[in-house]
Amino acid sequence: MTDLEKEQKYSQLVKEATALLDGESDPIANMANLTALIHETMGFWWTGFYIVRDCKDGVEQLVLGPFQGPIACTRIAFGRGVCGTSWQRRETVVVPDVEKFPGHIACSSESRSEIVVPVFNGDKVSAVLDIDSRYLNTFDETDARYLEQIVKLLN
Ligand code: SME
Repeated sequence: MTDLEKEQKYSQLVKEATALLDGESDPIANMANLTALIHETMGFWWTGFYIVRDCKDGVEQLVLGPFQGPIACTRIAFGRGVCGTSWQRRETVVVPDVEKFPGHIACSSESRSEIVVPVFNGDKVSAVLDIDSRYLNTFDETDARYLEQIVKLLN
């Protein structure tokens, strides 16, 4: 896919996502439809949300939410893996080669590159959007910009 094609696909995706979530406030329903839309439109390997949940003794963890693709790990601790790092840093993390990211959690050996985008509820990270590709260097600043725009629709 060329840079221009990527821009065009995302630009259309933002419009479709806006229409899809319009009038629906349930976060699980909206996350489920967003994952399906992103996954089908962009042809990624794995697309899904991990949701920040209160677990044992008041400790928060990321717990697997709506997703598309093969089965995945269910729980990720704060600061662990790409997802936990995005949660900790409160920013999008782009990983061009998962083998070069220390602490990467390999849910699938097929995954070669990854992007994780935090979802904010007010000032708090409430979830992360995690996307995996079977190819190296799939994600860049364009993916980050549009996906950040898309997850804001969840608010
Ligand atoms: N690779 C992620 C774990 C989730 S799976 O990719 C679906 C990570 O390192 O946090």
